[in-house]
This record gives sequence, structure tokens and C-alpha cells, in this order.
Amino acid sequence: MPARPILYFPDPRLRKKSAPVSAVDSGIRQLVDDMFETMYQAPGIGLAAPQVDVAKRVIVVDTSEEGDTPICLINPKIVASEGAVDMEEGCLSIPGIQELIERAERITVTALNRDGNAFELEADGLLSVCIQHEMDHLEGKLFVDYLSPLKRQRIRKKMEKLRRHTL
Ligand code: NI
Repeated sequence: MPARPILYFPDPRLRKKSAPVSAVDSGIRQLVDDMFETMYQAPGIGLAAPQVDVAKRVIVVDTSEEGDTPICLINPKIVASEGAVDMEEGCLSIPGIQELIERAERITVTALNRDGNAFELEADGLLSVCIQHEMDHLEGKLFVDYLSPLKRQRIRKKMEKLRRHTL
């Protein structure tokens, strides 16, 4: 069992805009730890707090092959970006769906870590794409929003059918 249940598209709670974290306290650290556990168990390479029904600006990622490089970003902000890259994306809230999405190739992001200390991270490739994907969740945005309305509607129907069969 994952540490916290994951919400699935088209759950309206995935559409809420998340609030900034005002203090990195023990509750936030617990949330971060639970999110890593949920992400690794899924398994996935990124998770945003709204996916576990917490509307706070917290994301966790680990794009390493061994799954031994956890990065937690609290109140992340992209301060620079350049280039463009197309990459196939999936989402733990939209299981079984992968689509080609265009993102910035390189980003510089600032955030607080699990100890509440500010840091800056330069990312490219998969890590860059993953951080941008997870940060979208904090705005209530999903990768299917980049697709045509028709394609998104097809995915929505597929998800609703899947939920009926598994619940
Ligand atoms: Ni996602």
C-alpha cells in the first residue's frame, strides 16, 4: 500500500491551485517523507502534493536510474529556462497514458529543501522535464492539458471506465 492514496484524473481536486508553504515544520517533513514513499512504491519519478490531496507547493522527484537521488522542492520557482525538448510523459494520476509533450530543455529552479533551506538547482533532460511537469500540478495543470480537447476527452473517458472497473 502506498503511504498516501493517489488521486486520479479527472478528480477535481487535481485542479486546485496549491498554496505556498509558510514554514517547513514537522508536518511538512512528514508530508515529504510520505510523498517519497508513495512515489517509490508506485513506482514513479515524480509526485506533487496535490496528487495526494494536499494543496501545498511541495514536489518530490528522483530521475536517477537506481532511484537513489531523491530531490524535494518546496515552493519551487523557475528563475531561468531555455531551449525546447519533446519528451514522452506519463503521470501517476493518469496511469497507462503516455504522450509527447514539449517543455523547456534546461531550467534553473530555486526552492526550499526538507530542512527549510533555500537552494538553486540547474536541470536539463529528464530531470528538467520532470520538475516542470510536477510544478504544473501546483497550478492545477495536467500534461493532458497540452493535448487537443478531443484527445483529452478520449483519455478522460478511458480513465473513467478504468475507475469503474477497479473500484
Ligand atoms: Ni503528474
